[in-house]
Formats: sequence, C-alpha cells, structure tokens
Amino acid sequence: MRQKLVVGNWKMHGSRAQVRQLIEGVATGSAGLSNVEIAVGPTFLHIGLAAEICAGKGADHLKLAAQNLSAEPQGAFTGEVSAPMLAEYGVNYVIVGHSERREIFAETNQVVAAKFKAAQASGLIPILCVGESLAQRQAGTSAEVVLMQLNAVIEAAGIAALQSAVLAYEPLWAIGTGKTASKEQAQEIHRVLREHIAKSNTAIAQSIRILYGGSVKAANATELFSQADIDGGLVGGASLKAEEFVSICKSAD
Ligand code: 13P
Repeated sequence: MRQKLVVGNWKMHGSRAQVRQLIEGVATGSAGLSNVEIAVGPTFLHIGLAAEICAGKGADHLKLAAQNLSAEPQGAFTGEVSAPMLAEYGVNYVIVGHSERREIFAETNQVVAAKFKAAQASGLIPILCVGESLAQRQAGTSAEVVLMQLNAVIEAAGIAALQSAVLAYEPLWAIGTGKTASKEQAQEIHRVLREHIAKSNTAIAQSIRILYGGSVKAANATELFSQADIDGGLVGGASLKAEEFVSICKSAD
C-alpha cells in the first residue's frame, strides 16, 4: 500500500512573513492527518526559515522539499546550491526536471539525470517530473515523451534507483493554466509509467509513488487522488493558500 504524498511547490513566491504564515497555517490545519505525507517547497533562501518554523511549531509531520539543486557537490559554481547543503538543512525531497527548469533554464535529460543522482548521493529523495507539451499531446505522443524522460534517468542511475524516488506527471498544458488533466487522462499516463517500470522491476513499480501535478486544487483533488495509479499531488498555485492546501492534503488522507 503506497502512502499518499502531497508536495507544495511554492516556486519563486513568498516573503519571510508569508512563509511563516503559510507554514503555521498548514502545520495547524494538517496536524490531525495521519495517512498522508506532506511536504512544503519554499525557495532555497527560505528553507532554513521554514525548518525553524516547523521545529518551533513541533510540526515534525511536515517535510521539506527543495525545488532544484546542483548536480555538483561543491565548487566554483556561482549561484548554485548543492545536495549536501540541502541535506544539512533537513531537506527530505528535491524536485528535479520540473518543466520550468527544462524549458526556461534549458535543462536537458542528461542534466536532470545528473541532478537526480546527486540528490540520492546525499540521501535526498528526488521527485522526478515528466510531462508533455500541448503540441505533443495533440500529436498523440504523450506516453512516448514521458517514457523518454523517465528512461534517461533509468539509463543513468539504474532501475534500482527508483526505489528511493518519487515520480511526478505534470503535463505542461495543465501547469498554472487552471486546466487540469481529467482523471482519466492523468490515470492513463500514470498507468503507462508504472507498467513501464514493472517490465524491469515489479516490486519497485508497485512501491513507487507517482504524483500528479498541474492545476491541482481542492475542487479536483479527491477525484484525481482516487485513481488507481495516482499517489498524491505536486501542487503549485494552490499550495500558496494554507486552507486550500490543507484541503488538498485532506483529500489524500
Ligand atoms: P500549478 O498547480 O500552479 O498548476 O503548478 C503545478 C506545478 O508546476 C507544480 O510543480
């Protein structure tokens, strides 16, 4: 039985005051939930503050997720943050291959795979994002695209590496658009991903959590999370409002 996981990707949002308010709201609102695992993903700059606020509230049920990392452990890489640094701050998860990193910051499958391996080398759990563009969906190549993205990591890290990883299916056309994939569209790709992994390792296919991301909100979380192969959500905009995010977490509990 896979435990559901809901991760808030705050992207480049939040002041110190907003981080405090949001974490306190989420910590209080989610205190009674026992089945769902919850993580919040502030900017690098706010991770230390977020960890302090969680500790101050005694909210050890809230995990921390980073949004990115360097593939290198240290060195002359101006502006970068490494996996050992994140681990020292108590970060549990790190998003790799988010479509905004792939598109805006030109991260290739090879870069994503290197970051995935760097995360695991420091004991962080990578949340590997895959997803197709609208044009690719319309061309009928959604499954092919996500499998290519997944295979790039399997080739570099080996199938066993998926044992301590999370996958996230985030169709680009559903991110920040308010246009969620239907539960059938999402389930279909999640099934394809799981069946692909099962060809190499059935135990990992059964245990790996595959999150859906793309305009998840309180109003659609329950139907998405009730699909057989959807194990929670990677939530953008709706994770910036404590009440809405808690409501999404409740749908997964
Ligand atoms: P939205 O929930 O704002 O569509 O963003 C999804 C996302 O990119 C999460 O990583």
